[in-house]
Amino acid sequence: MPLTHTRELFAKALKGKYALGAFNVNNMELLQAIVEACEEEKAPVMLQISKGARHYANPVYLKKLIEAALSLSNVPIAVHLDHGDSFELCKECIDEGFTSVMIDASHEPFEKNLEVCRKVVDYAHKHNCVVEGELGHLVGAQFDQGEAGGSYSKEGHYTHPEEAAEFVKRSGVDSLAVAIGNSHGAYKFKGEQHLDLERLKAIKSALMAAGLGDYPLVLHGASSVPKDLVEEINRYGGGLGADTAGVPEADIEVARRVGCTKVNIDTDLRLAMTAAIRKTFAENPKEFDPRKYLAPARAQVKELVRHKVRDVLGCSGRASD
Ligand code: G3H
Ligand code: 13P
Ligand code: ZN
Repeated sequence: MPLTHTRELFAKALKGKYALGAFNVNNMELLQAIVEACEEEKAPVMLQISKGARHYANPVYLKKLIEAALSLSNVPIAVHLDHGDSFELCKECIDEGFTSVMIDASHEPFEKNLEVCRKVVDYAHKHNCVVEGELGHLVGAQFDQGEAGGSYSKEGHYTHPEEAAEFVKRSGVDSLAVAIGNSHGAYKFKGEQHLDLERLKAIKSALMAAGLGDYPLVLHGASSVPKDLVEEINRYGGGLGADTAGVPEADIEVARRVGCTKVNIDTDLRLAMTAAIRKTFAENPKEFDPRKYLAPARAQVKELVRHKVRDVLGCSGRASD
């Protein structure tokens, strides 16, 4: 099946009130695991590629691997640049045929963020590509001291609903990544785990009130960091800290019901892959055939993706929408 446009996947997800999983691809095994899982679940999917993935695997390899996946698969697949950090990188990906790019200038002041997004949007829209921007800082609650106006306080860095509406209107971005206490990696929260879901609702409402309709929001840092995977890694020689923490899957479900249309998951894939590889090596120290440890790793990632799309994102069976 040919590439499906991100625009089309978003429109259908908004209508059907489910979220799209945006899973990071870095190599063949991850790609196979994601696509085979979505194939079995009949789920549409977004494959996302970071600058680091392009550096690791080479953009041409990634493009050809995705072409192979497309030719073998019957589910809708879109290809997205994750955390593009410059106009030039976004342009490269647009020129390569990505159906969407993220320009992440969220570390810049509001007006500069807007200006960078606007430039990417102008180019993207002329070349049949849509753009994700980000407003707010994804520092996460682990740094949130809760002091109004403090450097990592909600007031200072979480996405403000009214600013979000202004940002979308003036930048022209097609989707918006929000900061509501989410963060990347395996150590997301210190103390109580939470996303500010009320703020998410307020952002969605502000966008609606500003005439932007049922506007697609994006949740980065949506890995749940499953305890069983962390334990498996540590049981077989890993050294992950006792303070690993992810977003409870129940929160992700609420977030998608409130209107997060794209949910980004990378860390959980990494944990699943690492746990299976460590287990194989611990149980078979003499093993040195990469297929013998990569096959179980791929199988474990596939199971994880199946679980996410079926039990958390609600997009199983939506491939033919
Ligand atoms: O949000 C970041 C993603 O997990 C991609 O990570 O830049 O190490 O490829 P990466
Ligand atoms: P996690 O680290 O929670 O998997 O987040 C991934 C992500 O946001 C990619 O953009
Ligand atoms: Zn991210």
